[in-house]
Amino acid sequence: MKKFENKIALITGSSRGIGKSIALELAKEGAFVIIHYTNNKLSAEQTLNEVNAIGGKGELVRADFMDTNSIDDLFSEVDKILSNKKIDFLINNAGLLEKSSIENVSEEQFDNMFNVNVKSVFFITKHFISIMNNGGRIINISSNLSKRPRQELIAYAMTKAAIDNFTTTLASTLGSRQITVNSVAPGATDTDMNKERFKDPIVKESIGNMNALKRVGTPNDIAKVVTFLCSEDGGWITGQYIEASGGAGL
Ligand SMILES: NC(=O)c1ccc[n+]([C@@H]2O[C@H](COP(=O)([O-])OP(=O)(O)OC[C@H]3O[C@@H](n4cnc5c(N)ncnc54)[C@H](OP(=O)(O)O)[C@@H]3O)[C@@H](O)[C@H]2O)c1
Repeated sequence: MKKFENKIALITGSSRGIGKSIALELAKEGAFVIIHYTNNKLSAEQTLNEVNAIGGKGELVRADFMDTNSIDDLFSEVDKILSNKKIDFLINNAGLLEKSSIENVSEEQFDNMFNVNVKSVFFITKHFISIMNNGGRIINISSNLSKRPRQELIAYAMTKAAIDNFTTTLASTLGSRQITVNSVAPGATDTDMNKERFKDPIVKESIGNMNALKRVGTPNDIAKVVTFLCSEDGGWITGQYIEASGGAGL
């Protein structure tokens, strides 16, 4: 029997990047994966095709978290898929990064990042904890910038600090149901979010060299940590901030 047989996972932002890798790792171990996307339907279909190709099962759902009214669409679509079943794993992964210092950041950029990275996570979680099996897992994808912010990412780093705070409180609220809640904080990881920065291989290598393990992260590096936290073996860890950065800045 596979590790996550009969488990149902919702992974926000799993059309590409880290979320896609998480969906594939969970599906490989038998979980039914609900793959959420916003603008990249084709990439989401590709994730589902890859899930099916490894013998996994899943469904696609769409919602734009910039417009928080659209979160209700996510609830109704997922509720239809669940048809009275409950979810086991909620992976709050979808994220938006707009590079701007305090002098340049617009109110719109600030609101967009807080809507996608914080407000949607809060209300999605509020909804799904009412239909989550006891013993479930909530994993919030944070960032190592929440503890070591940079000037040009001031608002983005604030969103991730808010998520870490949310993780701590929620872990204490849900502990009696044996639901664990953790923040996983990647460092620089090779996804579209870093496409511009990493297009120059010299820049990519020098950013990798700032990590103890001398390379940038891959989406799968992060997915493995998430999979561990979802497993029985990861069940005694809750309310924690777990940095997965290959030792950034050590
Ligand atoms: N990459 C890094 O270096 C790094 C480091 C630290 C933390 N993180 C965090 O890791 C998570 C995943 O990042 P990633 O690097 O995999 O990013 P990515 O490759 O840019 O993918 C972002 C994902 O979020 C979804 N998304 C974007 N805007 C959205 C919106 N308005 N509403 C709902 N979903 C939206 C995208 O959906 P569509 O494809 O449909 O647009 C996509 O699936 C994020 O929370 C990010 O902050 C990343």
